[in-house]
Amino acid sequence: MSKAAATEASKRPIGVFDSGVGGLTVLAVLRRMFPHEDFIFVGDNMNNPVGNRPKEEISQIAMNIGHFLAKVPVKMAVVACNTFSVVALDELQATFDFPVVGMAKGVRTAIDTSQTQKIAVMATKATIDSHKHIEEAHELQPAVAVWEQACPDLAHLIEQGHLDDHIVHSSLQQYLDPIIKSGSDIVVLGCTHFPFLMDLMQHMSGGNKTFIDPAYETAEEVKDILEAQQLLNSQSAKGKLDICFTKDKELAERMTSILIPPEDFNVRIITL
Ligand code: DGL
Repeated sequence: MSKAAATEASKRPIGVFDSGVGGLTVLAVLRRMFPHEDFIFVGDNMNNPVGNRPKEEISQIAMNIGHFLAKVPVKMAVVACNTFSVVALDELQATFDFPVVGMAKGVRTAIDTSQTQKIAVMATKATIDSHKHIEEAHELQPAVAVWEQACPDLAHLIEQGHLDDHIVHSSLQQYLDPIIKSGSDIVVLGCTHFPFLMDLMQHMSGGNKTFIDPAYETAEEVKDILEAQQLLNSQSAKGKLDICFTKDKELAERMTSILIPPEDFNVRIITL
């Protein structure tokens, strides 16, 4: 890209997307790291959950959002969803002419931090079935033991606003029990919905496990690309925020306001 084209592109927003509210946990980290960037967030909650679907459907849903963001246009897209990232990142990157960043796996931080060299990954069924976390972990450290914990109903419970009731407690308990038995001291949250339950998870696992949110590693990758491609927005004003969902405005507003000050956003409903 020429310097003039990069300067023009740098003024565009960064697109961040997920199958629902999970991507907001990544957006919140990105906004803190890049206060002068404009963001457009798309949560396709009409299609939530995606994590139990066949790969073709998952790709189709991710590509639809990609086409919406291309029309905005955005200067970069952050796939704030592990399921979309493991299934559709290659296709997204091959299709669009702006950089597309997928979710980091978080396993490097987990291995570096673990005392026991036993780590666990909690994620959707599709993400666990891809075995991408275990692959990356064994490339980095062949001796590390990785407990893969699929959590098929958890993202959707969070999507529906179950953050601290008996329904989410009993769902979480059935996933934490085998992790506790596995002896893992570090747990990677391999689904962007799960950081909504970070405190609850810590509490329910006895306070002696470290839960890793890979959004921070992802944000570092975003930074490297924005800098390398001279795409950082040079405006001195605070960045603007456009929050889009595909249904349930009220619930979306309630969940967004947990992570983002209400005066900073409006939710609009879009059709993809
Ligand atoms: N937030 C998504 C992820 O990180 C999954 C939610 C879903 O199953 O739709 O995988």
